[in-house]
Amino acid sequence: MKAAYFKEHGRAEKIIYDEYRDPVPGSGEIVVRVRACALNHVDMLLLDGRFPPPEGLPHVNGCEVTGTLEAIGPGVQGLERGARVILFPGLSCGRCEYCLQGQRTVCVRYGYLGAHKDGGYAELIKAPAANALALADALSFEAGAAVPLAMLTSWHALIAQAGCRPGQTVLVQAAGSGVGSAAIQIARLCGARVMTTVGSDDKIDFARALGADHVVNYRRQDFVEEAKRWTGKRGVDIVIEHIGGDTFEKSVYALTRLGTLVTIGSHDTHWGRLDLRHVYSKNLKVLGTNLGSIVELKTLLEHVVEGRLKPIVDQVFPLADARSAVQRVLDRRNKGKVVLVP
Ligand SMILES: NC(=O)c1ccc[n+]([C@@H]2O[C@H](COP(=O)([O-])OP(=O)(O)OC[C@H]3O[C@@H](n4cnc5c(N)ncnc54)[C@H](OP(=O)(O)O)[C@@H]3O)[C@@H](O)[C@H]2O)c1
Ligand SMILES: [Zn+2]
Repeated sequence: MKAAYFKEHGRAEKIIYDEYRDPVPGSGEIVVRVRACALNHVDMLLLDGRFPPPEGLPHVNGCEVTGTLEAIGPGVQGLERGARVILFPGLSCGRCEYCLQGQRTVCVRYGYLGAHKDGGYAELIKAPAANALALADALSFEAGAAVPLAMLTSWHALIAQAGCRPGQTVLVQAAGSGVGSAAIQIARLCGARVMTTVGSDDKIDFARALGADHVVNYRRQDFVEEAKRWTGKRGVDIVIEHIGGDTFEKSVYALTRLGTLVTIGSHDTHWGRLDLRHVYSKNLKVLGTNLGSIVELKTLLEHVVEGRLKPIVDQVFPLADARSAVQRVLDRRNKGKVVLVP
């Protein structure tokens, strides 16, 4: 098969579009013909070596995949060749203490398709059969690919972790990101009011169209002061944070008493300082979150199919030009998800 892979760490120019080993389904596994694969920021960390692929190089990125069932391994039942599927990207052992508690996203052997295994920047991808869900005919392959990682993570962060409720105020960092563009919509679906940040003015209208009530260009305005002003000095109930570093540190100051900050990622730096006096004196919650469950993905897909949430596809690139797709994300120009199609 053809794939867009890399065998050395670096930037977009390290991606090679060429022949790559064909995936062979083992017991309990399937092979999917990829029809669309969305990019994520974690792809950039895998590519440049900040998060080296655990199985080594060469590696194929791509965590969010939709396609058709190409091959079915031994022991797999109830799936038919040619079926339209969406892949849940989380990999877990099913046997450890946390899996047995039903908390598979913190499995001690946890992994992601596209990170811990080869992913979807390819014509074919191998996955556990249990990770395949039916992709409704109403959803295009491209739109479906914008759901199973970024949108699911935002869903879990807001619903399961932060317990977002009607009437609350939410600060979502980086409206243009996959995570942010989903979180704005999900918070609105919960009945919350949303403030968000952008790094360039061309993303302001985009953020408003997603439902943000207040948009701040953090290069021109201090987002903490804006959060205070927007809430009448009170501060917001929830912050969805996924940048790390100074953004994390400052985000805590945007919270009101009893507020919750959910940290989803850290691509600026893996460190973030926390003003402890602020945390304990205001009874704040600082929570981590990792993906969501396959059951949550099913629920999320229902909302998408029924039109209450919209997968945001920024631009579609041919797989052969994966370099340009990656460059667009590295340049921080995406508004929503960049998608590859073979
Ligand atoms: N825990 C999980 O399960 C999980 C799942 C999905 C994603 N994540 C994490 O969530 C974060 C967002 O992922 P994504 O795929 O949604 O991102 P993305 O689409 O690539 O968007 C990232 C955006 O963040 C903003 N940004 C602010 N500071 C930045 C910096 N120093 N470097 C790069 N971008 C910066 C940029 O927008 P502006 O220029 O407009 O500020 C950029 O476009 C990542 O850290 C990712 O690893 C975690
Ligand atoms: Zn486990």
